Amino acid sequence: MLDIKNIRKMFPIYHKYPDLVYLDSGATSLKPQCVLDKMNEYYTEYGVNIHRGVYRLSYQATDEYDKARQKVADFINADFEEIVFTKNVTDALNKICQMYQKFLHKDDEIITCELEHHSSVLPWMIATKEKDMKLVYIPLNDEGRVTIENFKKTITNNSKALVITYVSNVMGYITPIEEMIKIAHEHNMIVIVDAAQAIQHLPIDVKKLDCDFLAFSSHKMMGPTGIGVLYGKKKILKKLDPIDYGGDMNEEVDLYHVDVKDIPFRFEAGTPMIAEAIGLGRAIDFIKSIGFDAIMKHEQELLHYAMDKLSQIKGVTIYNKTSDVGIISFNVDGVHPHDAASFFDEANICLRAGHHCAQLITKWLHCIGTLRATFYIYNTKEDVDKFIKVVKEVVEFFHQFEVNKNE
Ligand code: ALA
Repeated sequence: MLDIKNIRKMFPIYHKYPDLVYLDSGATSLKPQCVLDKMNEYYTEYGVNIHRGVYRLSYQATDEYDKARQKVADFINADFEEIVFTKNVTDALNKICQMYQKFLHKDDEIITCELEHHSSVLPWMIATKEKDMKLVYIPLNDEGRVTIENFKKTITNNSKALVITYVSNVMGYITPIEEMIKIAHEHNMIVIVDAAQAIQHLPIDVKKLDCDFLAFSSHKMMGPTGIGVLYGKKKILKKLDPIDYGGDMNEEVDLYHVDVKDIPFRFEAGTPMIAEAIGLGRAIDFIKSIGFDAIMKHEQELLHYAMDKLSQIKGVTIYNKTSDVGIISFNVDGVHPHDAASFFDEANICLRAGHHCAQLITKWLHCIGTLRATFYIYNTKEDVDKFIKVVKEVVEFFHQFEVNKNE
């Protein structure tokens, strides 16, 4: 069982705001002191450039940076050269869409679904328009989930790629990607997985999943902002050309020719996010020290506790009663999510309101947006109780206008 009291002590934001109820980890997680310390260690003890300096401090910084990449690789069971550092998951998903397009042609079909975050679907929306390809959506079932059956129905001889979220940032559903990847490969499709909302909740093994590409951000897994990860199978990465050219990504440069480095370095032009990579490596150590079993168990407890209490409040619509991870999307009936959100803010409760950069699913739900509470390892049942109290207050406050209106 998680020692939450002790865990909360590791997050400096709770020292500054002991009463903070942070229920927006889906947007970004809080950062533990150990991650901040590790980044500070780089800046204060060996804060120089990497891969360039022929002096000891530079070797030390390079070593720490390389160790961080290895930690990321080990974390998802990839190899060192299969890990490309990017700005964030959005950058990773855009890059792969641009780099892979040379293998795609008119009338090719890209399969995706309405649960996607804009970062996952928009690059392909533009690419398919530009190249006269087709974007195909897997119909969601009544609950709003992707099913294997519906996925199979969308596949044609022209299907070339499956672009799919592992966990929906609005519905909290886990997509059955392992089976989908197997089916996609049987039809010679490549698979790109958006793991932005999965990496902090579930152990991921890219070899077992057999996905071709997988992307995530550091800041949702207690690492720093400003760095993300693109995993790619090395045999495919080796066939891709970089988008950015500049320092440190090339071997030999002549007047009219450049020899690019091997993977992953050819995709990382310029001075990279050194402190951020090192911080991400520390965040991975931190997650490992807690363990996914404990993380998942704690989240499930909070999820069920909150879902149960929320379901009992009349005047609240919950959109994802069967959510698989610590994500609840709901609305107070008749109240704009932004209006409701200000009540939570007054009570020191941070949650997200709106379409969550996933308008396809909020439109599918026929709502303008939702309130979204997301739980992580530092949340407690007391946080949930405070949250539920405010939900009740919001319902009561707006209900009085309804009553007055009807009088
Ligand atoms: N994509 C992030 C979220 O779901 C920011 O809130």
